[in-house]
Amino acid sequence: MNVEEAIKNRKSIRKFKEHNIKSEEIQKIMDAAILAPSAKNLQPCKFIIVESQKKKEELAKACLGQDFIASASIIIVCVINESLSKWTTLDAGIAIQQMVLQAQELEYGSCWIGALNQEEVKQVLNIPAHLKVVAVLPIGKTAIEPERRPRKSREEVFFFEEFGKN
Ligand SMILES: Cc1cc2nc3c(=O)[nH]c(=O)nc-3n(C[C@H](O)[C@H](O)[C@H](O)COP(=O)(O)O)c2cc1C
Repeated sequence: MNVEEAIKNRKSIRKFKEHNIKSEEIQKIMDAAILAPSAKNLQPCKFIIVESQKKKEELAKACLGQDFIASASIIIVCVINESLSKWTTLDAGIAIQQMVLQAQELEYGSCWIGALNQEEVKQVLNIPAHLKVVAVLPIGKTAIEPERRPRKSREEVFFFEEFGKN
């Protein structure tokens, strides 16, 4: 699968099959995040990989009861230290999306999770108080392939030469 195919095939997956992800596959996903660009190359993100079923269930609860999260093979939680630069959230977004696309290439589905209770996620994973949880990323084998969600047209999103000009 090339980058174009990974981008086009990706959808948010909200139901996963039971599946043991290989450690080599996890390492490829980790490397995708490590290779992401970041402002001043600060690499401000830390990631916690969760494989234990108990913690996955606790995380699902901490993500406002989004129970499907617990059925993923792994859950990756991204945290940043916002005091390092004004770009840390953006840096995290890039790193997370690189993991999403690498997972897609390995034929795993995923779903960005932003709706979460900071304090509860921190408590489950023993995350220091000064760090911010940016996203939770369940990754697993797709059980239900959803319909593609609608997108705006090129004309709505892109302008040429000046704002508002198609
Ligand atoms: C920053 C961010 C936060 C999101 N948070 C959630 C979430 O908490 N729960 C969820 O089910 N989907 C979440 N999503 C997934 C979006 O709903 C999804 O990307 C969007 O509806 C488009 O669908 P698609 O990903 O299938 O193309 C989030 C996506 C992003 C980028």
